[in-house]
Amino acid sequence: GELFTVLGVETSCDDTGVAIVRSDGAILGEALASQAALHEEWGGVVPTLARDAHEQVLDRMIDKALRAAGMESVDQVDVVAVTVGPGLEICLRVGCERVKALAIAHAKPFVGVHHLEAHVLMARLGAPHAAAGVAFPLLTLLTSGGHCQLLLSRGVGEHQVIGSTLDDALGEAYDKVARLLDLPVGGGGGAALEALARRGDPAGVALPVPMRTKKNYDFSFAGLKTAARLAVERAPPERRAEPNFFADVAASFQHAAISHLEQRIKYAMELCEARHDEWGGAPSTLVVSGGVAANQELRRRLQVLCDETRAPGQAGGSWKLVLPPPRLCTDNGVMVAWTAVEMVRNGVAHVPDDQQVKARWP
Ligand code: KG4
Ligand code: ZN
Repeated sequence: GELFTVLGVETSCDDTGVAIVRSDGAILGEALASQAALHEEWGGVVPTLARDAHEQVLDRMIDKALRAAGMESVDQVDVVAVTVGPGLEICLRVGCERVKALAIAHAKPFVGVHHLEAHVLMARLGAPHAAAGVAFPLLTLLTSGGHCQLLLSRGVGEHQVIGSTLDDALGEAYDKVARLLDLPVGGGGGAALEALARRGDPAGVALPVPMRTKKNYDFSFAGLKTAARLAVERAPPERRAEPNFFADVAASFQHAAISHLEQRIKYAMELCEARHDEWGGAPSTLVVSGGVAANQELRRRLQVLCDETRAPGQAGGSWKLVLPPPRLCTDNGVMVAWTAVEMVRNGVAHVPDDQQVKARWP
C-alpha cells in the first residue's frame, strides 16, 4: 500500500525516545535521551525524577527527531503514537499527554502502543519487505528489566505467553548483581556486568543453573542472584582480594543465567515441534528482544543454539535467530513508531480522548 510515516514516543521508564519511521521500515529520524547519569546517583530509577526528566527533554527530542527526518513540524507525519503501558504511570503520562495534544493540534490519528509488543515487533522492522524469517508465527524471548517471557506470536496483537519468570526479570537480576559488584547501575547495570564478565572465568565461581531439573517454560533468577551474593559475602578474604574475583562472579553469573535461558528455549522449541500439526505450522524463527538482548554473549550462544536445532515440520534446516541491533533492543522511539505502523496496517487507530495510560497491562 501507500507509504506513510509515524512519529513514535517512548517514556515508560527512564529513556525518552522519539523516532519518525516510514511504513516500509525506513528510520527517518531518531532521538534518545537516557537518564542513566541521573539514576546512577540514586542507584536505581526514581519515578518522580524520571518524570521530571522526561518533561524537561521530550519537546527537544521531538524537535530533534523531526529535524533529523528533514521535517519542520508534526504536520508532516501521518500518524502519532506513544507507549501507553505497561510502565511507570507518571512517566507514561508525560508521553501520552504530549502525544494526545499533538494528535489534536495537528489532526493526526493517534495510536497507543503496548511496550512489550513493541519490543517483540521491533524484530519485524521493515516486514514484509525485510528478509524472510520475520513472518509470523514467531517464538519470542522477551527479556528486559521488568520482564522475562517466552511468547508465541501469531500476529499483531496476538501474543500467547508460553512461560514467564516466577520471580525476578533477568535484567533486574543483572542490575542487582552489578550493584553487588560495585558497578555503575544507572540506566541498568547489565552492560557494565557484561563488560566485567569478559575478563572473568565462567567456571570461576560455582553458581547453579536455575530449575535445572524442572522441565517447563518458566524462568527463575532470584535464587541465582542470591547465590551470587552469598558467593561474594562468604568468599574467604584471600579469594576476595584476588584481582579477578569480581570478574569471575560476573562471568559465572552470566554463564548460569544464559544456560537457563538456553534450556527453556530448547523446551519451547520442542513444544513447537510437537504442536506443529495441531497449530497448523509452528514458528521456526526465534526472536530475542528487550534490553538484555543487547548482550553479546547471549546473542552468540543463542545463535549457536539455533544453528544446532532442527526447525519444526518438514521444511528441514535449522532455527533462524532474529535479533534487533543492540540499540533497538533497549527502550527507544523506533519500536513504538514501528509497532504503530503494524497496528495501522491492521486497521487500529485510537481516539485520543479515550486513551488512558495503563501502568499494568498483561
Ligand atoms: O528493555 P529495557 O531497556 O527496559 C525495560 O526494562 O523495559 O531493558 C533494560 C534492562 C536493564 O535491566 C539492563 O541492565 C539490561 O536491560 N541490559 C543488559 C544489557 N544492556 C541492557 N543486560 C545484560 N547485558 C547487556 N548488555
Ligand atoms: Zn523495555
